[in-house]
Amino acid sequence: MNTTNQETIDRYPTSLLLLHWVRAVLVAGLLWAGWHMTGLNDEVASKYELYYPWHKSFGVLVLLVVLVQIVLRIRTARLPQPLQTLAGYERVLSILVQRSMYALLVIVPLMGYSMSSTYTMSDGVFFFGVNLPELLPKNDDWFVVFQWLHKVLAYTLLVLILLHIVGALKHRFLDRDPRNDVLRRML
Ligand code: HEM
Ligand code: HEM
Repeated sequence: MNTTNQETIDRYPTSLLLLHWVRAVLVAGLLWAGWHMTGLNDEVASKYELYYPWHKSFGVLVLLVVLVQIVLRIRTARLPQPLQTLAGYERVLSILVQRSMYALLVIVPLMGYSMSSTYTMSDGVFFFGVNLPELLPKNDDWFVVFQWLHKVLAYTLLVLILLHIVGALKHRFLDRDPRNDVLRRML
């Protein structure tokens, strides 16, 4: 995030690199599971016994991973900087998309947590066998607002991720200048 006063390197440090890929797998799984589970019939036992609690657990885990990642990023002195060989609009777009993804990776799980907390029928937020405290009072009107925000922002995140992946693949496979290959910095 802070791109000033930093020496530049041409590859992400291993810690940030590993966290990027672990989080990518978790987020892809959560988007799929969220979409799949909400489409299931209420009579399907696994809907509320399996999908909902594990979606919540992995969702809270993503929030923790992203917070660690943000702290590490702020504390890392040397990070790859935007490539000067990219077009100006590409540099601006990639920074905007990356910052928006970071913001949504915090806000989406918080909306999920708030939704679960305000839902009158739920009792605690399941986190790998532990019930985390609900941080907001029960309120059906607020539940509907958080449910809507969680859904809209989660699918907005999906659109940004697709844009991010298309960008990375374009720089690797379509750009004529091999210096534009940002993917090598994340491998
Ligand atoms: C990065 C993290 C997360 C992502 C990407 C994500 C994504 C999604 C998606 C795509 C849906 C389907 C929305 C729909 O089509 O209606 C969904 C539903 C849901 N999510 Fe998440 N989620 C995340 C974290 C969380 C967390 C932390 C919680 C709770 C602690 C949570 C609780 C729920 C619940 C209860 C639903 C079902 C809502 C309903 O029945 O309408 N999610 N999520
Ligand atoms: C759920 C999936 C993903 C999410 C949420 C995500 C998110 C992010 C974020 C937030 C950054 C900025 C890292 C930083 O500077 O701290 C980043 C960097 C990067 N990601 Fe992803 N990513 C995902 C999947 C992918 C995939 C599948 C690819 C490859 C096709 C990829 C390629 C890259 C590359 C090359 C960078 C470095 C960009 C640069 O140095 O300018 N990401 N990603």
